[in-house]
Amino acid sequence: MPRPHVFVTRRIPDEALDILRTACEVHTWDHEEEPVPHDELVRQLQVADGALVVGPHRIDGPLMDAAPRCRIYANMAVGYDNIDVAEATRRGVMVTNTPGVLTETTADLAFALLLAAARRLYEGQRTIVEGRWKGWSPMFMTGQDVYGATLGIVGAGRIGQAVARRARGFDMRILYHNRRPNPAFEAQVGAEYRPLDDLLREADFVVLLVPLTPETRGLIGARELALMKPTAVLVNAARGPVVDEGALYEALRTGRIWAAGLDVFDREPVAPDHPLLSLPNVTAVPHIGSATVRTRTRMAVLAAENLLAGVTGRRPSNLVN
Ligand code: DGY
Repeated sequence: MPRPHVFVTRRIPDEALDILRTACEVHTWDHEEEPVPHDELVRQLQVADGALVVGPHRIDGPLMDAAPRCRIYANMAVGYDNIDVAEATRRGVMVTNTPGVLTETTADLAFALLLAAARRLYEGQRTIVEGRWKGWSPMFMTGQDVYGATLGIVGAGRIGQAVARRARGFDMRILYHNRRPNPAFEAQVGAEYRPLDDLLREADFVVLLVPLTPETRGLIGARELALMKPTAVLVNAARGPVVDEGALYEALRTGRIWAAGLDVFDREPVAPDHPLLSLPNVTAVPHIGSATVRTRTRMAVLAAENLLAGVTGRRPSNLVN
């Protein structure tokens, strides 16, 4: 029996490659930052039985056409909006993701953005570094209180629930919006369900953690931002296209809302001259929600286990189709 041929679209930790090497011929685009060029991706997929996918490629119908032997795409992420799952399903191709292992790490980053935006950490550092700090004064660099404030979680899945657990330590009132109420979650942290508009009106902090789907694309636009308090902070740790960036820029520029903490952008990497980045009330980080050594290693290992199962005729643990 020939060993299955798998392609790994980016450099990943050796622990994960070793799992694949137990039973597969492993080919890797062995670069840390530079994504595999499209032509090389096509060339590799033409002969691959499966692929471990690290964004940003869109795995769509035309790419699947070029990969006739590929029976599994193992995404190294919990989100899988980069893969046309319906198209894969139609072809009988498996798609897997890496849920669970990144929950707490991503919740930490969402909460860090919430704190940083509320207390103007990035703006404060720039003020010091640029020599603009003239000394202590009563209302200098005043922000918004987190302790005791109202948190609104839009998308209280695994990560949203982990954010809620952190919020309890800050004695926050917790509101959430999901497609449907989750009584177990409510009982666990004392969260209250709200329709989206009510949540936006009541929350001091709105944290977005929904997956990107046709329903959530553009979920937060000018109308929704206008419902928020002028003192409110918006955190997007979901996907960029969930928010209308033009509307967000206007809301932040005009003081319609207080501040934003952003881990994700419409187009990534976001251009350094993007208008949002010129605003003092934006705290931005480069899509690092799950970026700790331990968590990224666990994600790579889980993706490798899924891929190995898929190409050796077993059912992967994290099938999404
Ligand atoms: C995820 O796991 O979905 C992260 O956002 C990386 O894309």
